[in-house]
Amino acid sequence: MRHFLTLKDFTPTELQQLMFRAIELKQIQKNGEIFEPLKNKTLAMIFEKSSTRTRISFEIGMTQLGGHALFLSSKDTQLGRGEPIEDSAKVISSMADGIMIRTFGHNIVESFAKNSSVPIINALTDDYHPCQLLADMQTYQENRGSIQGKTVVWIGDGNNMCHSYINAATQYDFKLRIAVPEGYDPNQQLLKENADQVKIVRNSMEAATNADLIVTDVWASMGQEKEQKKRAKDFANYQINSRLMQQANKDALFMHCLPAHRGEEISAELMNSKNTIIWQEAENRLHAQKALLEFLLA
Ligand code: CP
Ligand code: NVA
Repeated sequence: MRHFLTLKDFTPTELQQLMFRAIELKQIQKNGEIFEPLKNKTLAMIFEKSSTRTRISFEIGMTQLGGHALFLSSKDTQLGRGEPIEDSAKVISSMADGIMIRTFGHNIVESFAKNSSVPIINALTDDYHPCQLLADMQTYQENRGSIQGKTVVWIGDGNNMCHSYINAATQYDFKLRIAVPEGYDPNQQLLKENADQVKIVRNSMEAATNADLIVTDVWASMGQEKEQKKRAKDFANYQINSRLMQQANKDALFMHCLPAHRGEEISAELMNSKNTIIWQEAENRLHAQKALLEFLLA
C-alpha cells in the first residue's frame, strides 16, 4: 500500500509515468471513451479548509473512473468535535478504498497515514500541496516538453506550494529560484536538502531573468487571513506582471494554482493575456489526479 503525502513518496520514474498516464487519460476522456477501473470503489474526501478545484476534480475524477467520492466536511463529522485522528483513520479506512485530506498541520495527514489501512492522499496541508504539482508538471510538459534542466522561478510566499516546488525541483530535475521577501522564507531544512537544485534570489526582477516558467500563489494562504494587510505591504515588489515577464525567456510560461487575487500577486492584464496557461493548469488537476487514483486504488 502507498500513500501520497509529498512528491518524495514517489520516485522520479513513478512521477514521470504518472504524468504520461495523465496525458493518456485526458485523451481517453476527450475521445468520449468510458474507462472505469475503479468501479465500486469509494474515495472519502475530508475537507478542513475550503476548495473549488480540489473537490470537483477528485469528485468528478472518481465518477469518471467508475467509482464514487464522499464529501466529508470536518464541520459536520465527529472530527470537528475532537474525535481522535487515529480513531477516525481506522474507522474511515475500514470502509473507504482511499482517503483524501485537506487540512492544516502536515502531522495530521501523517497521522492518518500511520493509522489507515488504505492509501492517504494529501490534498493540501500548511506545508505541502503535491497534487497541484502533478497538474503543473503535466501542463508544462504539454506546452513545452520536458521540464528537465529548465529554470523555474517562484515569486512570492515560501508557503505550501513553494515547498512542493522545492520537492519538484529535485524529483523532476529542474533549477528553482525563489524570490521571497525576508521573513517569509520556505522551510530551511527543506532548502538544505534540495540545495543542489534550489536557491533564494531576493530581487524578483533578477530572479525572473531568463526563466522558462514563472509561478506564484496568494500572499496570504488559508488560515493567514488576519495577516493579509501586512503581507500585501511586504510582498508589494513580488507581483507577476508583464514587466516581470519581460525579464524571462521569450517563450516563458507562467502558472498560478488559483484562486488568484488580481492586482496582488498577479496583475489583471496577465490573468487575461493571450498565452496564459493557468486555465489548462486548473483543468489538469482532474487528469493528473485520475492517474494518481488509478495508481493508488486500482
Ligand atoms: N488550487 C487549488 O487547490 O484550488 P482549490 O483551493 O480551489 O481546491
Ligand atoms: N497557498 C494557498 C494555496 C491554495 C490552493 C493556500 O494554502 O491557501
